Amino acid sequence: MTRLHAENLTLAYDQRTVATDLGVAIPDGSFTVIVGPNACGKSTLLKALARMLKPVTGAVYLDGSAIAEYRSKEVARRLGLLPQTSIAPSGITVGDLVARGRYPHQRLLRQWSGEDEAVVTESMRRTGVLDLSGRLVDELSGGQRQRVWLAMVLAQQTSILLLDEPTTFLDIAHQVEVLDLCADLHEDEGHTLVAVLHDLNQACRYATHLIVMRPGGEVVAEGDPAVVITAELVDDVFGLPCRIIDDPETGTPLVVPLRRSRSGREPAARAGAATGNR
Ligand SMILES: Nc1ncnc2c1ncn2[C@@H]1O[C@H](COP(=O)(O)OP(=O)(O)OP(=O)(O)O)[C@@H](O)[C@H]1O
Ligand SMILES: [Mg+2]
Repeated sequence: MTRLHAENLTLAYDQRTVATDLGVAIPDGSFTVIVGPNACGKSTLLKALARMLKPVTGAVYLDGSAIAEYRSKEVARRLGLLPQTSIAPSGITVGDLVARGRYPHQRLLRQWSGEDEAVVTESMRRTGVLDLSGRLVDELSGGQRQRVWLAMVLAQQTSILLLDEPTTFLDIAHQVEVLDLCADLHEDEGHTLVAVLHDLNQACRYATHLIVMRPGGEVVAEGDPAVVITAELVDDVFGLPCRIIDDPETGTPLVVPLRRSRSGREPAARAGAATGNR
């Protein structure tokens, strides 16, 4: 069994059931990417995996025990979550917010240490926000703020990281920077990463394990992106007619949406459209 897995989950908010009979196992040391249409339950699943949402039935297991049985600090030392949206306490500086990532490592008799300081500085350096350290979080741009939250999660120094749309608000260069950083954490430091992404092409480039969800919180396919991503699956799950070609840079699947015909949703017939199809 893997360090982080879930069995028979029913996930719901009050009256709204988001998923039933959902099981997932996050391969240890993987860079797992979850994709799926809006509102299909990706964030809900991540919240359940991080113990931010209590399942109605079923359980999440972390390192062999039900996650519900751990003390909160213990969960936070093993697993970090970057939620899809977070609100910073008003008036807090970047440096102080990132420092909050060290909270799970603080003990009654060992308060702030030089090591904490070094980890916070390094986390801000890796996410490119060191220069913003003294600025108020309220006054940052969306992309700057996103990288500050990521720095806070890094400062937590957990070997499992759950990142809900870590590239939101980022320009294309910063998106690649953040995904490269995730790849480094996975490849060089052996961390297990789980990220929700909307860009299927980035998902295929970076994921060692891809999970495709559909509305109802159902996992429709999972595995190596090169095997999982087909034109049929993308049309079935997203309702998007496309063809799949090889990414010229990495050889991973590249999803190319078909052009709409004037008459409606049917793709325009195009000479040679099949060339290079997987
Ligand atoms: N706090 C909440 N209270 C009630 N319903 C919620 C809550 N959060 C999410 N939902 C509902 O649960 C369903 C799944 O939402 P979730 O946020 O998991 O989707 P998602 O796959 O992450 O979507 P997106 O791609 O838009 O982020 C949606 O129908 C949503 O409206
Ligand atoms: Mg979401």
